[in-house]
Amino acid sequence: MDLRPLGRSGLSVPPFCFGGNVFGWTADEATSFALLDRLLETGFTFIDTADVYSRWAPGHQGGESEAVIGRWLKDRGARDRMTIATKVGMDMGQDPSGDGRKGLKASYIERAVEASLRRLQTDRIDLYQSHTDDAETPLAETLAAYDRLIRAGKVRAIGASNYSAARLREALAVAERETLPRYECLQPGYSLADREDYEAELEPLCREEGIGVISYFSLAAGFLTGKYRQAGAAAGRAREARVSAYLNPRGFAFLDLLDTVAREHGATPAQVAIAWLVARPGLTAPIASATSVTQLDEVLGGVRLALDPAASARLEAASRGSLKG
Ligand SMILES: NC(=O)c1ccc[n+]([C@@H]2O[C@H](COP(=O)([O-])OP(=O)(O)OC[C@H]3O[C@@H](n4cnc5c(N)ncnc54)[C@H](OP(=O)(O)O)[C@@H]3O)[C@@H](O)[C@H]2O)c1
Repeated sequence: MDLRPLGRSGLSVPPFCFGGNVFGWTADEATSFALLDRLLETGFTFIDTADVYSRWAPGHQGGESEAVIGRWLKDRGARDRMTIATKVGMDMGQDPSGDGRKGLKASYIERAVEASLRRLQTDRIDLYQSHTDDAETPLAETLAAYDRLIRAGKVRAIGASNYSAARLREALAVAERETLPRYECLQPGYSLADREDYEAELEPLCREEGIGVISYFSLAAGFLTGKYRQAGAAAGRAREARVSAYLNPRGFAFLDLLDTVAREHGATPAQVAIAWLVARPGLTAPIASATSVTQLDEVLGGVRLALDPAASARLEAASRGSLKG
């Protein structure tokens, strides 16, 4: 498989990243292990998680996804064959001594990284990402904390998720001015169903600065698979809140087009949605999750699919902006 450089980090990664929020949430431990085994077998050895996954699920505290990955890495002895991305900064609630756990202050990053390393059962994180911007902490403080982690060998490269273009630009300037590591990767939400936020300013900035991009919600939480075809179709599903926004006339019309393009290519809508992202200049690897090996195999088929240019142009024209109602 042709690997792609991740920014200027020196890391090379497959053109697809598996989204680990499902581990211990919508995929139980056995299914999670089967998914991870399949990734290893097929060479798609790049996974994304976060300390906070899946704190939103009833009875969960956060850390569930990293812990599943850690048990699998240990059981399979697979650490050296995987590229592991995780994140820090979202609200993890209070620790047992009552201290808050969120944000990007140096003192918190130092504690959070140890907890992630422990759960992942490893001594290093390949890509450590700021999960969301923290306007109250100076960028130089955060980057200096990451600098120490890189020097200690605990982190190999850093990335930013959910940053605005203005703040990412500012972070790059601070890194250069203070000789600190720069964010080598951006993780924005981006798919055929939601294009405007990334394409307006972030995409040109990343291309100009040679920053890698791993985009999340590549399948719009499942909407682009075409499995939700009428208003209310996601009712009661774990993905209801996210998917419902697309269940509107423009969204359904777009699914019809996806069906047509998929048929023309002997593929499925999910595969077309993934193939379109894989071909996007400047995008290193789309992130998507799956809750079964069958779903994963379908998604990986999309990574290998080449869309014809006329079909891509039709998809582009029909998906401008956002399909959210
Ligand atoms: N940085 C951030 O703030 C942020 C935010 C969100 C996500 N992320 C990252 O992006 C990853 C992916 O996000 P996501 O899982 O929420 O969205 P997604 O990739 O857009 O949607 C994936 C979901 O669609 C369904 N699906 C996948 N393949 C399918 C197939 N072939 N047929 C039918 N259904 C299929 C599965 O859910 P069901 O089976 O349950 O329907 C799967 O979990 C996360 O794991 C995380 O790593 C990052």
